[in-house]
Amino acid sequence: MEVIIRPTPERAALLTARIIAAELRAKPDLVLGLATGATMEGVYTALAAMHRSEGLDFSHCSTFNLDEYIGLAQDHPSSYHEYMRQHLFSRVNINRSRAHLPDGMAADLDAECPRYEERIRQAGGIDLQLLGIGRDGHIGFNEPLSALRSRTRQKALTPATLAQNARYFGGDAGKMPKRALTMGVGTILEARRCLMLVVGANKAEILARAVEGPITAMVTASALQLHPACRVIVDEAAAASLEGQDYYRWIFQDECEWGAYRDDPSV
Ligand code: F6R
Repeated sequence: MEVIIRPTPERAALLTARIIAAELRAKPDLVLGLATGATMEGVYTALAAMHRSEGLDFSHCSTFNLDEYIGLAQDHPSSYHEYMRQHLFSRVNINRSRAHLPDGMAADLDAECPRYEERIRQAGGIDLQLLGIGRDGHIGFNEPLSALRSRTRQKALTPATLAQNARYFGGDAGKMPKRALTMGVGTILEARRCLMLVVGANKAEILARAVEGPITAMVTASALQLHPACRVIVDEAAAASLEGQDYYRWIFQDECEWGAYRDDPSV
């Protein structure tokens, strides 16, 4: 695992977007795993800007989102389908037939899960998986005690997640679906590379547990310690509780391919 600390949330999101863009340029038919949530908004805004100003081309890539609420229509304002349309898909030249999310309205939800996994396999597997972390340590919607080998499946959301995401439902957790379809931890760990972005002081403690604590199903992001190619990009506020901060800074400056850009405000 590699931890990169950037001065601000904006610079952390920008570097995340630059890394995605570099991968996309190197492999135009990249299979990209996507996440939603407030943290990702800056990444998608930066990617859309790179599409406009630098011609970053999404036309050959495929995308697979981590999760979707059960029971929300795709055009519901709080669905992840709608989030992706608004924040990324409508702003770049992606081929919508290759932009996949789990179908939370499927008549047979249990059949939808292996079907989603099969689509990932048919696309050749995920090259780069973008991730955020929930306040309860989840990746995707893999809530505490999710099996670390779990696959795409239905998952009940925890009170912590309902509280975290109520803001997308007019601040009323009562209006939120209580269940979601999510890629499993095992599915995520099969991605060739993982890229987790974490910003803000309210994520500092859970980030430290995920990165430096024991691997435990109570903090499913800690399973990323098992991944051979996982980068975690954080801002100063989120890094505050990391014991190894000095070491991570040293590695970034002296060893990381992106370290040369550390004083470049566009990265
Ligand atoms: C959603 C997802 C979640 C979020 C996490 C953080 O697709 O994968 O794991 O990344 O809940 O959400 P924010 O960024 O809103 O704090």
